[in-house]
Amino acid sequence: MLATNYRGPQRIRVSQKPMPEILHPQDAIVRVTRSCICGSDLHLYNGNVPDTRVGETFGHEFIGVVEEIGSDVHKVKVGDQVIVPFNIACGECTFCKQELYGNCHEANPQATAVGGIFGYSHTAGGYNGGQAEYVRGPYANVGPTVIPEGMHPDDAVLLTDVVPTGYQAAEMGGIQKGDTVVVFGAGPVGIMAARCAWLFGAGRVIVFDQEEYRLEFVRHYAQCEAYNFRSIEDPVVFMKKTTDSLGADVCIDAVGAEAAGSALQTITGRKMLLQAGSATALHWAINSCKKGGTVSIVGVYGPTDNLVPIGNALNKGITIRGNQASVKRLLPRMIEHVQNGILNPRALITHHIPLEEAAEGYRIFADKLDNCIKPVLIPPSARI
Ligand SMILES: NC(=O)c1ccc[n+]([C@@H]2O[C@H](COP(=O)([O-])OP(=O)(O)OC[C@H]3O[C@@H](n4cnc5c(N)ncnc54)[C@H](O)[C@@H]3O)[C@@H](O)[C@H]2O)c1
Ligand SMILES: [Zn+2]
Ligand SMILES: [Zn+2]
Repeated sequence: MLATNYRGPQRIRVSQKPMPEILHPQDAIVRVTRSCICGSDLHLYNGNVPDTRVGETFGHEFIGVVEEIGSDVHKVKVGDQVIVPFNIACGECTFCKQELYGNCHEANPQATAVGGIFGYSHTAGGYNGGQAEYVRGPYANVGPTVIPEGMHPDDAVLLTDVVPTGYQAAEMGGIQKGDTVVVFGAGPVGIMAARCAWLFGAGRVIVFDQEEYRLEFVRHYAQCEAYNFRSIEDPVVFMKKTTDSLGADVCIDAVGAEAAGSALQTITGRKMLLQAGSATALHWAINSCKKGGTVSIVGVYGPTDNLVPIGNALNKGITIRGNQASVKRLLPRMIEHVQNGILNPRALITHHIPLEEAAEGYRIFADKLDNCIKPVLIPPSARI
């Protein structure tokens, strides 16, 4: 089968690989019909995730058709079209029981922090991903969920990550009615977080990015204010000035380790890898936050340390929350929101790219070319 093949930083190939096989009675083999490239993949692509091995198949956002099931799979059957959450979760460990499906202990027993994630290095369990024609889905009685009748596949594929992640970013902010919410990052995740902030009762939503086309998109899509941090001297000062010197009630980091905007952070975090990526957005989020406010982190950082103003967080009494999204927990509500027209995820998809051209897809998405917001890879068998 065709699958992405990581060759080292900024080098992705698509090559022939062996078909996945059922390795456990609860496995399912899924024939992929769509898989996205995510901002999280850029951390892998840029070589910032420890234990990303040459030859790995990336891709944690995919939908497809169940092709084969293990003897103990009863939740899905052959022929079902399924949404597969990006988290691999056993459904039974102490963390899954608390609906912390992003922190499953069984799917990634080597790690004490992150759970299992498709196509996301050996740090996240060493599972092959869905930027391929076929993928093995472990714990098929837990994650895979049948796509509701009539749902557009471009909506369905965004339910594997972007929609629940943006929603959880807003949810973790504990937004109260009338709150001012600032979102750093107008990628797919930040756009969805800004849109979802209104669902929790925000009174004002502000987004920062450096890509004009994304700012333009989010202004319309999420009906919010959006500013280019390159044309503002200091986003933290800007936030203070626009909130009677108090700061925002809720600050969301939807950027993570690839953040731009600070030479010090970029050199130490992205070039020299002395910290787990550049923490510029998180730095701004903490410093823009009101006393007693909340910082919600969905932007991804690695397992090592980061330079952040923890003293300010302490002295302002800020609540800091963060996690990988718990996709399975949120999926039923997200499906409802799409079916009721409250959320329209597929508007974010700007590019449909053949799987064979994944390298070009990564380049376009990473370099923010051609007004790209969210690219989807389509394997040959899904194009017939
Ligand atoms: N927690 C989770 O479950 C989860 C799930 C999906 C993605 N993520 C993470 O969310 C983040 C965003 O993902 P995405 O797909 O939207 O990525 P993306 O790369 O498309 O978007 C990131 C955006 O941030 C902007 N940016 C860079 N520096 C900035 C700064 N200092 N302030 C404001 N904006 C800045 C970039 O221009 C870009 O538009 C990534 O770190 C990704 O790993 C987390
Ligand atoms: Zn993702
Ligand atoms: Zn578990």
